[in-house]
Formats: sequence, structure tokens, C-alpha cells
Amino acid sequence: MYDQFQRRINYLRVSITDRCNLRCRYCRPPEGSGTAGSEALSYEELLRICRCAAALGVDRFKITGGEPLARAGAAAFIGALKKLPGVRQVTLTTNGSYFAANLPQLLAAGLDGVNFSLDTVDAALYKELTGGELALALQGVKAAVRADLSCKLNCVPLAERTPRELWDLLRFADSCGTPLRFIELMPLACNQGLQGFAGAQVRALLAQAGVAWRRDGASYGNGPAVYYRAAGCGVPIGFIEPLHNKFCAACNRVRLTSGGLLKGCLYQPAALDMKKLLSDGADDAALQQALRQAIYHKPAGHGFDARPAGFAMNEIGG
Ligand code: 5AD
Ligand code: SF4
Repeated sequence: MYDQFQRRINYLRVSITDRCNLRCRYCRPPEGSGTAGSEALSYEELLRICRCAAALGVDRFKITGGEPLARAGAAAFIGALKKLPGVRQVTLTTNGSYFAANLPQLLAAGLDGVNFSLDTVDAALYKELTGGELALALQGVKAAVRADLSCKLNCVPLAERTPRELWDLLRFADSCGTPLRFIELMPLACNQGLQGFAGAQVRALLAQAGVAWRRDGASYGNGPAVYYRAAGCGVPIGFIEPLHNKFCAACNRVRLTSGGLLKGCLYQPAALDMKKLLSDGADDAALQQALRQAIYHKPAGHGFDARPAGFAMNEIGG
């Protein structure tokens, strides 16, 4: 369907839990936040919402968290989602820690692709940025590559990166044959004080290490990344810049938080409380009508440039 600004909305990001085994500094407060796991919508409720969204023309779904694989039954949910009428593509965003262990079930479910959050391949820096073990994340990425799943790597570059260490990340992406995307830091109340890097700064830093860049006109997915090629690296490098290259005018997506709030925009507090509608006994026709209204009124754009957002990213999955 189309929203009030004639944008075609065909993509829903579904956060199935706000729980996560990591503590990425840019994403969430160290002490945790948001809905406890028990307050998340049931898989049955999530499927009902997705079925209604599919009836409105949403055909691509991204399963996010928190860490989606921290919730038991995620692969079975993906399998059920894939079987809904009108669903063409279901992909996953994960930090990779539990990925290798879940791979057989995810493949059986028909998962179409996976984005790994991988900020660095330096184990000490990974620990500092995320609190986690690099080896587990790498194991996940390598398992996905071996299984021939369509993969991408995501990095949120913070200002203290060095050319050498960034180049190692590019080389790792190259060795896996997976595109790598740099996502510009979105300012949240819980990450104040962190300094992000815009795309041009990442490219300039790598240029110091001798990397020559050229634009790549192609697009490699559903998202707003602008792609470049780095000499000496065989995979495309994408730059997603919510602030320096605001792409809201071409946005195709809406989001469902783990607590059941539908958001027309990442930045919007909430457009619709789906959990309340469900507990009030709304039937599918009523759910669909409410979704249609909320999607139609999707805001023109975010306001990150004016004020940091009040939520933590693990409630909504990026
Ligand atoms: N700014 C930009 N990207 C973020 N992500 C999480 N928090 C932020 C933030 N504050 C990214 C994660 C993940 C993707 C879904 O969102 O790295 O890969
Ligand atoms: Fe967890 Fe992803 Fe947030 Fe990192 S960015 S803490 S992996 S939800």
C-alpha cells in the first residue's frame, strides 16, 4: 500500500524480543531497558499481525531483536511466516552468537538471508564495543557463508577507529564474499557522548591506508545504502547515513517493536498499540484497518538531526 506521501510500503521489520546477550554501546543502556521478555507478543499474535500486513501488500519481513535468536522458537516462527500468503522474503538481523547453533532449523524454515552486526574483527575492540566474544560472531558468519545464505555485514563506526583495523574488517568481508555496510550512528538518549563517523569520514580514514574508492551504481538489498568499491576489496561497501544522507523520502518500511507498538518511523514514539488492540479482542478486519491507518500516516521523516530519540535500539531492532 501507499502512505500519505505516495511511498510504497512493502517491508515490515518485526522485533521479536528486546533481550540480547550483547551490550553494544551505541544501541542500549548497559543495565538493559524496555519490555521484559515476558511482555513480548506471542508468536501467534505476531503471525496474525504479519498476516494482516501481508494482506495490505507487505511482502518482505525482517526479523530483529534485541537478538532474535535469544528467543526460543525463532526459527519455527520464521517457517510459519514464510508460509503466509503474500510473504515473499523473510530475513534476519543477528549478532551471530547463536547463529551457527540455529542454522539447520533456519535453513529448514526457508530463511532468505541474514544481516550480521559485526563492528570489528579485532577481538579486544569487539569485546570493548559489544561485551561479547568475537569468535562466536565469526563462527556464525562463516556458517552462513558455507550454507550459501545471502549475507551482509553491518558496522556502526564510532570515531575512534583506525585505518588498519577498518581495513581488516573489509578484508574479512571480502574473504566471505559478503557486502559490508557502514551505518551512521543514530543519536539516542542512551548513547549520548558517543561520536559516530559519517560515510565520507570512513572513506577518508581508509584512504589514509591507501584505499582508493569509486562509486558503485548498483543496489544490493531492500535498504537505503549507497554503495562504493574499495580497490583491493572484492565486495561492495555500503554506506547508510540517516543524518548525512537522509533517505526518508524513499522509505519503504514500518516497524513493530517487541512490545507490540507499530512505528511508522524508527523515530516515531508509536503510531499504534497492536498489543492493546489484540487484548481488546480486535478481529483481523479491525487489525487490518488499524494497520492501514497507521501506515497511511507514516511521518515524512525522522528528527534525529533535531533531538536524540528516547528509545533504545534493542526495543526496535534498528
Ligand atoms: N545507530 C545506528 N545503527 C544502530 N544499530 C543499533 N543501534 C544503532 C544506532 N544507535 C544497528 C546494529 C544492527 C542494525 C540493525 O542496527 O548494528 O546491525
Ligand atoms: Fe544486541 Fe544488536 Fe543491540 Fe548489539 S546492536 S546490543 S547485538 S540488539
